[in-house]
Amino acid sequence: MGKNTVITVKSLSQHQDLILDGSMLGGGLSGNIRIPGDKSISHRSLMLGALAQGETIVHGLLLGEDPRSTAACFRAMGAEITELNTEEVRIQGIGLGNLREPADILDAGNSGTTMRLMLGILASHPDRFFSVTGDSSLRTRPMSRVIQPLTKMGATIWGRESNKLAPLAIRGQHLKPMHYHSPIASAQVKSCILLAGLMTEGQTTVTEPALSRDHSERMLRAFGAQVDVDPETKSVTVTGHPTLTGQTVVVPGDISSAAFWLVAGAIVPGSDLTVENVGVNPTRTGVLEALAMMGADITLENQREVAGEPVADLRVRHGKLKACKIAGDIIPRLIDEIPVLAVAAAFAEGTTVIKDAEELRVKESDRITVMAKQLNAMGASVSELPNGMEVTGGRPLHGAEVDSFTDHRIAMSLAIAALMAKGTTTIHRAEAASISYPTFVETLEQVIGS
Ligand code: S3P
Repeated sequence: MGKNTVITVKSLSQHQDLILDGSMLGGGLSGNIRIPGDKSISHRSLMLGALAQGETIVHGLLLGEDPRSTAACFRAMGAEITELNTEEVRIQGIGLGNLREPADILDAGNSGTTMRLMLGILASHPDRFFSVTGDSSLRTRPMSRVIQPLTKMGATIWGRESNKLAPLAIRGQHLKPMHYHSPIASAQVKSCILLAGLMTEGQTTVTEPALSRDHSERMLRAFGAQVDVDPETKSVTVTGHPTLTGQTVVVPGDISSAAFWLVAGAIVPGSDLTVENVGVNPTRTGVLEALAMMGADITLENQREVAGEPVADLRVRHGKLKACKIAGDIIPRLIDEIPVLAVAAAFAEGTTVIKDAEELRVKESDRITVMAKQLNAMGASVSELPNGMEVTGGRPLHGAEVDSFTDHRIAMSLAIAALMAKGTTTIHRAEAASISYPTFVETLEQVIGS
């Protein structure tokens, strides 16, 4: 494999271009790699560790910018969170209901999970005042989806544009339990309401139109809460006022980060790559099902259960891909992987149709418009649908100047596309990758052998 395939990549700090030259790839991607800890589980371990009594130790935590935002918010409210090394933290919890009123504005940064889950916790801490903001992307993302149900529980929350957008101000209240029928399958909405339910007298239930990731349910149980799940009706019930006790949490590798390498291995000829220690919770494995529909050669090896979450090593080998349809209940189980699945579709024979994914428009960027524009700039054929996209595969890609729009998953998806593009691709604002994957570039260099 060619040296210099990656031309400018050393560290992703402020406003860095990632420059890749796909024509210089001499062979397939190979080796055994590890990916950082799961972002969703990392956030939850920090929050529950802070709310529990006693000490929580988290192994394999993602120390990307998003979980760092969560840690900073909960430190400001009294939890002691100590980084023991690059992947381990110790949290001295303060006990449910004991959050201190922070002296300053809480900053969720770029992280929707931090803001939405934390709102459930803040709104249910009576007699305290909190203000919460985020970066320019987060301040455009809809918060009414959690503010409305919390208000029905008795919460007092103010925000911009008639209580829809951050910055937000919250006066904590004694909330009432409720049964919320969520119009969207969103783990952030579900988790927000369940976390608020912890501080109510009685049972709080969330029913979703399709099952979203269940990390909150698993971890709440592990910390001692009573959580009942009815898979038939897609409902989850939490019983208020549990005793949460500090735990040892082992965070598996993030399948959303593994997805970049799975697609890379599938599209780059000659590849044989193993991604070790990947969380394969069934509420997250839609990407494996979609790639299987496309004919990708991916095998699950060494399947095991680690601290309540299923884990496996994923081996991917290059092969011919064919188009498929991705729609319906699978969408919440692969929502974050759609940008990189669009890249896979650009190398698959036929037209891949992605539908029922309107949620993509309110992620860190409008991922439908942004991915379509950037992939088309590289020579792909992608057309936008109101709730998804159509990607006709098989056109040769060429290098181009593209932009992450400060969205981490866009930056990394474009890097994977660039591996198979002829000529030089410059990805502007590629530092966004460090939101969820601070070591992305190092691993990229490792798999291409530069
Ligand atoms: C997440 C839920 C998903 C996902 C996000 C993380 C979580 O968002 O896109 O990256 O940790 O609960 P929605 O709940 O908005 O679908």
